[in-house]
Amino acid sequence: MMATSHLPVLDVDRLIDDRRTRIIVCCGSGGVGKTTIAAAIGLRAAEHGRHAVVLTVDPARRLAQSMGLTSLDNTPRLVHGVPPRATHPAEGNGAGPAGSMHAMMLDMKRTFDEIVEAHADPDRAAQILANPFYQSLSSSFAGTQEYMAMEKLGQLRRADEWDLIVVDTPPSRSALDFLDAPQRLGRFLDGKLLRLLTAPAKLGGRAYMRFLNAGFGMVTGVLTKILGTQVLRDVQTFVSALDTMFGGFRERAEYTYQLLRAPGTAFLVIAAPEDDALREASYFVERLDQERMPLAGLILNRVQRLPAAHLSAARSLAAAEVLQASGPDLGSSSADPGEEAGRLLAIAALRLHADQTQLAAAQRRMAEHFTAAHPLVPVTEIPAQPEDVHDLDGLRVIGQAFAVG
Ligand SMILES: Nc1ncnc2c1ncn2[C@@H]1O[C@H](COP(=O)(O)OP(=O)(O)OP(=O)(O)O)[C@@H](O)[C@H]1O
Ligand SMILES: [Mg+2]
Repeated sequence: MMATSHLPVLDVDRLIDDRRTRIIVCCGSGGVGKTTIAAAIGLRAAEHGRHAVVLTVDPARRLAQSMGLTSLDNTPRLVHGVPPRATHPAEGNGAGPAGSMHAMMLDMKRTFDEIVEAHADPDRAAQILANPFYQSLSSSFAGTQEYMAMEKLGQLRRADEWDLIVVDTPPSRSALDFLDAPQRLGRFLDGKLLRLLTAPAKLGGRAYMRFLNAGFGMVTGVLTKILGTQVLRDVQTFVSALDTMFGGFRERAEYTYQLLRAPGTAFLVIAAPEDDALREASYFVERLDQERMPLAGLILNRVQRLPAAHLSAARSLAAAEVLQASGPDLGSSSADPGEEAGRLLAIAALRLHADQTQLAAAQRRMAEHFTAAHPLVPVTEIPAQPEDVHDLDGLRVIGQAFAVG
């Protein structure tokens, strides 16, 4: 299927059909097709008899609607219109087992709120939820979305209602963000800065002043100047209210981290056949390796298929030029309008053919560059569709590219 056929081919269907696969994480840089591919994998897995849940982040509205996701309620919903595949080659003849697909949209703030509600008594929870610092942290702290995606993954895994969880990752500037998020948030909540900030709450007013004068004052003084007293006070009350949950956060981050490393987990790095996306994919592959996280392979999405005709770009362009030159003289009235329209169409078709051939060749060079650097990483391709993917049929077409051979 790849032009570079000597390279290992990523068999997504085999991954989906292997019952030991429990979590598939789709990651990659912004806009490469993570959400689309995660949904397509969930659908295909359901049609292959698995009970799949797809955790999406910010799906396009029409795609969300096609999966029956009309509100951001943070709970998996059954996706209707997912028939089980009639026959399943891997299991001989006869009807395949019935599967199911659930999908949900991540609500980052709601997920954070739920953790607070689950871990603090009602009064304390109310106090935290109302805290302005909490409110801004839960909706805008860099990495909160990544952290919450991972948190939700942990919850879905613990619920154990699905045999396959497909995780879409947030549109981070860097594809690595979500790997770091659990620890970053853990470090943040557990860090020196916060301990410094909570000290006053523990020491009380006067003692705090002595504490400040004992050398920490400069730091806190600068902070007060930057943040303002009110914000600082908010942070302090927030953190002391959250104090009891610190351990919880650290444990959860650790749990998710281990989950990502578990044998049933597979990472798919998604990239467009473009320099930036592939460079990001390279970093990601290396990072997963360092973290000993199980990489299944690279999905090259939106690949320009090489046009069928065996006509090179150069010859195609040359033919277009000949046709162009053979046009009627300007102002000539002798040209047959039908013939003239045909000539113009042929020129356009030849130019399009040349463009597509050149694009396909450029994409192949970039893919080969990637595989030269990572010869052991299996790769598969998904053709560029003529339009956006916004319904189940569109997802099915994407899923068909997962069949090897
Ligand atoms: N193979 C494809 N052919 C044509 N269009 C595609 C293909 N894959 C994805 N798209 C379209 O590309 C756009 C971006 O896809 P998608 O939202 O899945 O990317 P993403 O990686 O999740 O983006 P973000 O990083 O913003 O979350 C969507 O409009 C989608 O329909
Ligand atoms: Mg997305």
